[in-house]
Amino acid sequence: MQSITLRTPDDWHLHFRDDDMLAETVPATARCFARAIVMPNLVPPVVNAEQAMAYRQRILAARPVGSQFEPLMTLYLTNQTSPQDIAQAKAAGVTACKLYPAGATTNSDAAVTGISALYPVFEAMQKAGMPLLIHGEVTDSHIDIFDREKIFIETQLQPIVEAFPGLSVVFEHITTAEAAQFVTQAGANVAATITPQHLLLNRNDLLVGGVKPHNYCLPVLKRNTHQQALREVVASGNPKFFLGTDSAPHARHKKENACGCAGCYSAWSAIELYAEVFDQLGVLDKLEGFASHYGPDFYGLERNTGTITLVKSSWQVPELVALPDGTPMVPFFAGQTLNWKLEASL
Ligand code: DOR
Ligand code: ZN
Repeated sequence: MQSITLRTPDDWHLHFRDDDMLAETVPATARCFARAIVMPNLVPPVVNAEQAMAYRQRILAARPVGSQFEPLMTLYLTNQTSPQDIAQAKAAGVTACKLYPAGATTNSDAAVTGISALYPVFEAMQKAGMPLLIHGEVTDSHIDIFDREKIFIETQLQPIVEAFPGLSVVFEHITTAEAAQFVTQAGANVAATITPQHLLLNRNDLLVGGVKPHNYCLPVLKRNTHQQALREVVASGNPKFFLGTDSAPHARHKKENACGCAGCYSAWSAIELYAEVFDQLGVLDKLEGFASHYGPDFYGLERNTGTITLVKSSWQVPELVALPDGTPMVPFFAGQTLNWKLEASL
C-alpha cells in the first residue's frame, strides 16, 4: 500500500462555533491537526482578550481524552476596537486579529464599517507583532459578488500593506488569480490561506445542473481559470501559501434553505481533500510544506514534532454527520470518494 508521512499539520483558519457544537467540531479537527487558528465570528463575536480566553477554555474542554490539540485564538475587530485591546490581547496570549468588512459573510454584521478608521489599531498590531487576518471582500452593493475580492485588493489591501510594512497580513481563503498574484509579489510579511473547496471546485460546481447549497461558501467559488491559478500556486511550493480549511459548520436545514448559509464543513476529510488535490497535480511531495511547514514559519511558531500518515485507500465521505443534539449536518464532499485516508482513522 502506498503511504505518505508528514510532519503533523495545522489548520490556519477554521470555525468551531460554540457550546454544544464544540463536541462535534473540536474532535473532528483534533483528528489530524495539532493546532488551529479559531475564527472569532460567534454570536456575539469574540472582541476582547477575556472573551477569547474563555472561549479557549470551552474548546479545550471539548478535546478528546488525551488530545494535545491547541486552539490559537483570534479577536474580531470592530469599529470600537482600540490599541489597548490589542495590547491586552497580546499579553493574554491571543494569536491574531480578524478583519471582516461588515456584512461580508456569516456573523459579520458587528464588524468593521470604515477600515481606514482602524489604522491606529493596525499600528498597535504591527508594534505588538500580532498578525492581521483579513476576509478580503468589499461589500458595496453595486460591486458584483464575483469581483469583490479583486476590488478589495485594489481599494483596501494594497493601502494597508503599503501603510504597515512591518505588519504580518494573512489574506484568508483566497479565491482569485489576482489574490494569488498580489500575495506572490508582496513582501515576506504577506501570506495567504487556501481552502480545499477553492482548489477542488469552481463556480460550475455551485450552479450547473441546479444550485448546490453545500458548495456555497464566501468568498464564493470563482470561474475555473481562478481555480487553476490557485492550483498552480500550491503546486509551485511557494511558502507564502498555506493550509486553512475555513471549515464552517452549519446544520443541514440552514444550508438547504431559501436563504442558505455560507460555509463548507470539511473538518472530517480536510487533510484527505488536500492530499487529493496535490495528488491530482502530481506534487504530493509539496503537501507537507503547505500543510505543516509554511504556516508555523509565517506565524513565528515552532513546527510540530509529531507525524501523521496518509495511506492510498479509497473511502467515501459520509452523507451526514449528526450534531450532538441530533441535528443533521452535511459535510463538504458528502458521498464522494477520496483516495487518501488518514491512517489512524482507517
Ligand atoms: O463560507 C464562509 N463561512 N465564509 C466565511 O467567511 C464565514 C464562514 C462561516 O462562519 O460560516
Ligand atoms: Zn472563515
